[in-house]
Amino acid sequence: MTNEIIREIEELKKEKNAIILAHNYQPKEIQEIADFVGDSLELCIKANNVDEADIIVFCGVNFMAETASIISPDKKVLLPDNRANCQMADMVSLDELKKAKAEHPDCEVVLYVNSRAETKSEADIVCTSANAGKIVSSLKSDNFIFAPDHNLGIYSAKQSGKNPIIVPEDGHCYVHTMFKPEDIKKAREDYPNAKIVVHPECNDDVRQLADYVESTGGMVRLAKDPEIKQLVVGTEIDLTTRLTRENPGKEFIPLRRDAFCLTMKIITLEKVLEALKEEKYEVVVDKEIAAKARVGIQKMLDLS
Ligand code: 13P
Ligand code: SF4
Repeated sequence: MTNEIIREIEELKKEKNAIILAHNYQPKEIQEIADFVGDSLELCIKANNVDEADIIVFCGVNFMAETASIISPDKKVLLPDNRANCQMADMVSLDELKKAKAEHPDCEVVLYVNSRAETKSEADIVCTSANAGKIVSSLKSDNFIFAPDHNLGIYSAKQSGKNPIIVPEDGHCYVHTMFKPEDIKKAREDYPNAKIVVHPECNDDVRQLADYVESTGGMVRLAKDPEIKQLVVGTEIDLTTRLTRENPGKEFIPLRRDAFCLTMKIITLEKVLEALKEEKYEVVVDKEIAAKARVGIQKMLDLS
């Protein structure tokens, strides 16, 4: 049955001139059929360079598909399940952001890519977890508004030496804030020879106890380092699926086995097939909002 679905997906991809992009947290079977698997920054760059395709099937969450649609407005972008949202992306509202801008008119505004198109349209520049420190360092102002992830805002401020105003104060990822210092202490006891890497969306006390702090793309590169033989991975569980597939002979241990991003898992092979057959669910961003949001995304891409 699965092989039949994969065969149909391959046929439809050719027939409709489509490409499948998938985030590193997608389940194994989706990673395996994707044309490209990456972190948020790599997926933005890829979506900016898919001249050959007419359709992008985006296996990830809605802000990622929206971003692809904003930077490739001539492509049809499909999200195989329109309930695939990122809770964090909805944590800052347009009104909240406008209020912060009015209160701090001297501050430049950095929007984490994990946000909705309408809030990105109010940003001076967008960032991902792979480039937040670099983007914030590039700002002219010493104080900056950052939304919506509190932890990444603090992390990028530390890296750049600038002062953040974080909107909202408690924006967070429910998956990455599950990790606790006790998880790191236990991993050190259980795997004394392993290195530990965590995502910048983790709390500061967790980041401080880890050996490395990396975006998921950074973790993929770190795993290829010949010095790394055993790695404890503090991010969503399916990143270890990719690391294990790409690095035979090495061991990758999830820092917690319950670190699931539920909406990343609602994309299935059946839904990818349906998406291609019926060209659903098309991600449509209002033209005016898209034009404004594109400015901050393009600035980020130019700096990356
Ligand atoms: P990356 O850009 O590091 O892949 O992170 C995306 C994300 O949603 C983390 O939770
Ligand atoms: Fe959003 Fe967290 Fe899921 Fe990443 S892991 S997509 S930040 S909910």
